[in-house]
Amino acid sequence: MAEVSVIMTSYNKPQYVANSIKAILNQTFADFELFIMDDNSNEETIRAIEPFLKDPRVKFFQSNIKTTKQRVEKVRYAALINEALEMCSGNYISYATDDNCYRPNRLKTMVNYLEKHQNVNIVYSASLTNHINLSNEVLKTQVRPTKGIVSIAPCQIDHCSIMHRQSILPIIKEKFGSFWDENPEFYRIGDARFFWRLNQYWDFYPIREILDDNYITELSIHHKLANEKQNEFVQMLPTQRTCKELREELRAMKKRN
Ligand code: TYD
Ligand code: MG
Repeated sequence: MAEVSVIMTSYNKPQYVANSIKAILNQTFADFELFIMDDNSNEETIRAIEPFLKDPRVKFFQSNIKTTKQRVEKVRYAALINEALEMCSGNYISYATDDNCYRPNRLKTMVNYLEKHQNVNIVYSASLTNHINLSNEVLKTQVRPTKGIVSIAPCQIDHCSIMHRQSILPIIKEKFGSFWDENPEFYRIGDARFFWRLNQYWDFYPIREILDDNYITELSIHHKLANEKQNEFVQMLPTQRTCKELREELRAMKKRN
């Protein structure tokens, strides 16, 4: 049993995924397991992941998704995360993507915080967003600072910047029928939808330090939605629900209570 379970989703980011994995394996906190949940990436990506599979902390799973139709039926990363959450054993859960790099003290700092604050269930940190092109050149950076104790987290915080206790998961599943929502109307904001669930019970507590670097690449879903006029994937997605809607719903619920 590891103290922390880190769940990384991966799909076709051959240029970035190795760095994301390395950043986790190089953490100053040692007691973790890393689930790499790959969504049937191309060979180049698998070749980039392969060297890390001999590390005993790494558990690798690959889906058998083949068509774009299958890819848009569910929020794929939510489905992969849900599978991993059923298998993982840590007291603390942390999420990663194939285009985000944890800073070396990320796990240690967050675990320390949660050990010290037994009343807190979810922590989040500041993060640095790097917009990069396909040659890995940084075009623009932006600090996403912490904003105190957050009771409306959707689209304020990224799932790569949080850690939560494992013990909250059964409560979420009991109420909503699953951990993460796989409804494809939330493909663009899957983590915001998960936070919408979490915020119905708990606030997110801040750690002011920057603990991860997020990379927005030309391969990301956001980039595709914003820039590619009509690729097949974007065209097949249902109309996407919005952050605004999730935030307003939470505000209304909180007012009622
Ligand atoms: P990403 O493209 O990085 O989206 P964003 O614009 O939000 O940064 O995708 C987010 C995660 O989802 C990433 O880890 C890869 C994963 N993913 C899948 O597992 N399957 C898929 O079909 C897609 C498109 C993404
Ligand atoms: Mg991304």
